[in-house]
Amino acid sequence: MSDESNSFWKNVVDFPANVRKSIFRNPLPSSDRGRAATSFSNLFLHIQPVRVSRQALRPTYTMGLGLISFFLFVILTGTGVLLMFYYVPSTTQAYGRMLDLRSSVAFGVILRNMHRWAAHAMVAVVFLHMCRVFFTGSYKPPREFNWLIGVALFLLTLLSSFTGYLLPWDQLAFWAITVGTSIAGYAPFIGKALKFMLLGDATVGQEALLRFYVLHVVVLPLVLTLFVAVHFWRIRKDGGLAKAEEPEAQPVIEVAPVPEPAPAMAASTSAAPARRFSLQGLVRGPFVKVDKIDPDTVFSWPNLLIAELFVLLLTIAGVMLVSILFNAPLEQPVNVMHPPNPAKAPWYFLGLQEQVSYSAFWGGIGVPGIELLLLVLLPFFDRGKAGIGRWFARERLLANSIFLLFVIVNVILIVIGTFFRGANWQFVSPF
Ligand code: HEM
Repeated sequence: MSDESNSFWKNVVDFPANVRKSIFRNPLPSSDRGRAATSFSNLFLHIQPVRVSRQALRPTYTMGLGLISFFLFVILTGTGVLLMFYYVPSTTQAYGRMLDLRSSVAFGVILRNMHRWAAHAMVAVVFLHMCRVFFTGSYKPPREFNWLIGVALFLLTLLSSFTGYLLPWDQLAFWAITVGTSIAGYAPFIGKALKFMLLGDATVGQEALLRFYVLHVVVLPLVLTLFVAVHFWRIRKDGGLAKAEEPEAQPVIEVAPVPEPAPAMAASTSAAPARRFSLQGLVRGPFVKVDKIDPDTVFSWPNLLIAELFVLLLTIAGVMLVSILFNAPLEQPVNVMHPPNPAKAPWYFLGLQEQVSYSAFWGGIGVPGIELLLLVLLPFFDRGKAGIGRWFARERLLANSIFLLFVIVNVILIVIGTFFRGANWQFVSPF
């Protein structure tokens, strides 16, 4: 007897549909049930909730800054892996490889430009994302831990960019890292050891290049990936993005009543309590209850997906456009006898360098250390519910003003360090 479902011609005809079904278990959804099933059964989509609040989708609320940070990281990983096919972390070869990228590698210039500009953009966008989280009060309970993960992500982003800065082995790279690592050397007690550990030597040379390379291409991307994964997972577990007028956070474990057992069963388990813990009691945040769908939410498929794809396209287009218009800098090869005057750290450390010019210890270690400590302690000391999920809420006037002052001072210091400092770190006019 022939097996209907295994007839050769039928399999030929059904081939495209069967391949599709083997990858995507559900057809394109046309019902609410289908939309939920699609989110559940796709590896990439199941990270997201089945339904998402309308507020989280509003472009003016998040400005997509967290997503842009993530997509920049993805672009950096992709272009970085391609660059690894050409780059050699050797003081005698690195600079030549940079020149090769310009002259003899197909799309080499655009590849390097994309990597460089995306790295600068990531530092700026991650910082802006941190500001958005602060100004909307989204670090408050239950999101304290995710704020801490965020602070770690910010430091990891700075370190990733800093370690990459040395790799072209040109004058800009060499002297920026020389200045940057000497700031680390000002740390009390551990400064000298820290600097030596980073450089593997007393000065920036082959050992430093190798260490920065390994940190840049293996260690930091791995740690960043892990922290980003925890960051995203926590967003889900904390009940999605913070919303205006959010109900009180539910207790971590609540008792969810379950139906009374049937009489026959009840007899055999008469000692069992009438109420039990259910899995729902362990999950905080929106989960779909029958007949109790929050009208302020919409299905993630396709609403969130479309928004995410739009942000992805915008990020790629932005990075490509800048990379077509502007070339990443490449100065003369390293000359240890001829430091530029002034030698400047990368722009995001120029605020630090400016502070160091007033006091090596306080500018390089004391003040940034205190700022970092305040960022870490913040969500454990500012716990009031008022003003969460709204930009510049009146109730948070004091906290927002202090943070704004911190942002403005740091931006001004960076602008001074970038444009107003000339030979011997003297004030000059950029005009
Ligand atoms: C590699 C760096 C980072 C990536 C890829 C990232 C990604 C994201 C994404 C995609 C979201 C949800 C959408 C959005 O808010 O735009 C988010 C939310 C959040 N992020 Fe980040 N983030 C990063 C760094 C940071 C930093 C530096 C902080 C703070 C110090 C932070 C704290 C938070 C918090 C508390 C939330 C939840 C906000 C809310 O509930 O409204 N993140 N992040």
